[in-house]
This record gives sequence, structure tokens and C-alpha cells, in this order.
Amino acid sequence: MKRQQFFTTLGVSAATILFVPYLVSCSKSNSVDSGAGPGPGGTVDFTLDLSLPVNTVLNTNGNSLINSGVIIARTSSATFLAVAAVCTHEGSQIQFDSANNRFKCSNTGAGHGSVFSGSGSVVSGPAPTSLRTYNTLLSGTMLRVYA
Ligand code: FES
Repeated sequence: MKRQQFFTTLGVSAATILFVPYLVSCSKSNSVDSGAGPGPGGTVDFTLDLSLPVNTVLNTNGNSLINSGVIIARTSSATFLAVAAVCTHEGSQIQFDSANNRFKCSNTGAGHGSVFSGSGSVVSGPAPTSLRTYNTLLSGTMLRVYA
């Protein structure tokens, strides 16, 4: 079977073969939250371009966004906080509490409602452990988030 016949049999056109790698490479640098956690082995190292519309929320103090399982919050012109976006109790999403510069669990039901400091430590449970924290480095409009 020739190559063209093979791909035709699979329903794959040459355009698809050429275009898919670009889609994959775009998704690596795109800052849209994929909902996925950190990379293999818990690796976190990504850069957000704060000039892109999807990331401009971080140009305002008190705002936050979630990317790759990390919640990043801007607390001042040059200060960001970055912690794991999943509660250590039962895995609900973490939110930034800008009024208090701390994080809280989005699950406010009975037996939940954990609160974490800006550095990820448990302020009030039931979360058993701190949130993992990450480093941030702002260079121009590029914000690197890494372990
Ligand atoms: S899941 Fe966060 S406090 Fe229960």
C-alpha cells in the first residue's frame, strides 16, 4: 500500500499531517488553562506573556488566573503568588482572596472551606497540608512560573 492510500484509508489528509504539529506547539506556549495539572513528574515551568489578551487579567493587582494546575495572583506591581490550584483536602479548585492576599478552597460546603496563606500554608482546615508553591519571575511582559 502506498503512503497516500494508507493516509486516505485512515481519513487523514496531507493538510492534517502538516497542520497538527503546529497546533501542538501552539498549545505549549498558549496560556489558556487546559485544566491539566503540572507536567510529568510534577514539573512546572511555563511562561505567560502578559501582553496577550488571555493573560492581561494579571496586569491588575488583586487578579488571578489558573494555568497548568497553578493559580497565579498579582499582589503588587512586581509581586506574584503562585500555588497549586487544587485543594489538599479533596481536590476542589483554589481561588485567590484578594482582600486578604490569601487563597481559599472553592468548596464551601459543610466540612470544607479551607483557607491558605499567600505562601500556601494552611490557615484553617480541614486541608491537611499546605499548597505547593512555585516561583515567579517577571521580565518585561513575560512571567515565568516554575518550581
Ligand atoms: S476540598 Fe477544599 S476544603 Fe474540602
